[in-house]
Amino acid sequence: MTGDRVRTHIRGLDEQLQGGVPRGSVVLIAGKPGTMKSSVAFNILYRNAKENRGGAYVTLEQSRESMLDNMAGMGMDVKGLEKQMSVLDLAMIRKKLKQLSKQSWMEVFKMYVGNLKKSMDLDLLVVDSLPVLQVMAKFEEPRDDLFRFFEWLRDLEITTFLIAEMKQDSDMFSDNGEDFLSDGIIHLDLRREDRIVNLFMSVVKMRKTGHKRGYFPLIFVDGGFEIVTN
Ligand SMILES: Nc1ncnc2c1ncn2[C@@H]1O[C@H](COP(=O)(O)OP(=O)(O)O)[C@@H](O)[C@H]1O
Ligand SMILES: [Mg+2]
Repeated sequence: MTGDRVRTHIRGLDEQLQGGVPRGSVVLIAGKPGTMKSSVAFNILYRNAKENRGGAYVTLEQSRESMLDNMAGMGMDVKGLEKQMSVLDLAMIRKKLKQLSKQSWMEVFKMYVGNLKKSMDLDLLVVDSLPVLQVMAKFEEPRDDLFRFFEWLRDLEITTFLIAEMKQDSDMFSDNGEDFLSDGIIHLDLRREDRIVNLFMSVVKMRKTGHKRGYFPLIFVDGGFEIVTN
């Protein structure tokens, strides 16, 4: 049964999702700043890389170095996993290419991901973040452009996690219909309770999967994430 599922390795969550996220899905990881979206997404790739499933993390907000430092600090050191896990700073690459290439940024992005798919048997992709991708790719008609981008991802036959930044004062997961287009939405939320700020996770949507609409505390222990379901 697990063959058609991508395990998130978040303890408690895969059981809720009948083994994990359906392979080939495009899933939003949505939350406000600081809700550990990047850490959760990186952890999914990292754990899968250890099981020899290839993953690419495209960082557009943070430099590759700062991302790797952060994650190593949380116990996710990619040393020795170079063949299974590639972390690309495409903002940087685009800057370097500017003088040399007439390709649009989106073409460069697609070329990089397409090449990885061929060269490393790519299974999983993270884009951190979707709003920044839309700015860099200069989406002129966001809804149409997004629709085509989602179609392109589905044709690749990989499982994609797109990080969606929610605004501080809003309950909307996205601005341009990403929540309708996506196969799944995982929502991360910080809540103040007394004097402590706790992190919560809920699966708002996951196509092809029965799941509870629970709102679970999410904790990070021993280098792994865990939802508290009792
Ligand atoms: N064990 C931990 N528990 C809670 N937060 C942590 C832990 N380790 C690191 N953090 C910090 O949580 C912050 C948010 O993480 P990040 O994944 O960057 O969030 P987001 O991508 O949603 O903005 C980071 O500053 C990270 O360093
Ligand atoms: Mg982040």
